[in-house]
Amino acid sequence: MEKRKVKGRILSGMRPTGKMHLGNYVGALENWVKLQQEYENYHLIADYHALTTNLDTSELFTNTIEMVCDWLAVGIDPQRSPIFRQSQIKEHSELCLIFGMLITTARLERNPTLKEQVRDLNIGTLVFGHLGYPVLQAADILLYKGNVVPVGEDQVPHVEITREIARKFNQTWGKVFPIPEAKLTSFARLPGLDGNKMSKSVGNTILLADSPDDIKAKIKKAVTDPQKIRRGDPGRPEICLVYTYHKKFNAEQCPEIYSGCTSGALGCVECKMKCGEAIYKVIEPYRNRRMYYASHQSEVLDIIIDGEKRARTVAQSTMTDVREKMKLG
Ligand code: TRP
Repeated sequence: MEKRKVKGRILSGMRPTGKMHLGNYVGALENWVKLQQEYENYHLIADYHALTTNLDTSELFTNTIEMVCDWLAVGIDPQRSPIFRQSQIKEHSELCLIFGMLITTARLERNPTLKEQVRDLNIGTLVFGHLGYPVLQAADILLYKGNVVPVGEDQVPHVEITREIARKFNQTWGKVFPIPEAKLTSFARLPGLDGNKMSKSVGNTILLADSPDDIKAKIKKAVTDPQKIRRGDPGRPEICLVYTYHKKFNAEQCPEIYSGCTSGALGCVECKMKCGEAIYKVIEPYRNRRMYYASHQSEVLDIIIDGEKRARTVAQSTMTDVREKMKLG
């Protein structure tokens, strides 16, 4: 592998949700690709964590492959940055078990994401795995001695718990782990077409795999300023969802769109078409690569298996350290 100066190690993770949407792109992937220049990166597929929202595993494998097709399409370089499934590396569950001894249940009950998980639940009821969710995440991060964890705002409490566990381990048995830092993505979360959080389960997404026609049809349904009913009515870009998309994907045309909207000269339909085109321009370069991987899925699986080999070596070496410090064995 080429020699580069790196600032440290990054552990980024995502649950395997299938085809990636623009929210995943803006909130994570775009950032991951940039960061691979400066850091040594490990890309975790949190397939065990996925069980906290769905016990039906029939689509887990397909969702994993579909997700990785998009990761590769946007430019994650698997040679440089291993891509691997949590479930294929036993050390995750081993370290998670040990970490479970280092944090109180009271602390885990205070985790703000626990309440959200319960609310979004289609699993029926709270299980032990929900409470332990951040403990497994701490194992994900610390097994690779990650210094930096690129996350959205919602995951910051989990990184905080990871830091507490790392400190507690180091104090109890000797220093093994770095104290990782959360690195927030610069663009705030991209809302979905209905103005709520962009999410597959809601059906308000634009996918990286969408064609220009798909995008056009979807953006037509996007909510806009309810006071702007027809062309000629002045609109309020600052509260308009479509304008949020323009800001992210069409920065150049923003001043013109802003004045067109506020004066009334620009109608919503035309504005949306401009927006759809701008979005497509951003994702178009990934399209061919995405189609290639989607039709060569065994190649994608090979890439993952290769990443798992490399990740496993690191994980095993950390566990050797851990056991030595703990005088186990
Ligand atoms: N909990 C994260 C999410 O839902 C996914 C995740 C699992 C993760 N393990 C991780 C993220 C480790 C960063 C680091 O988005």
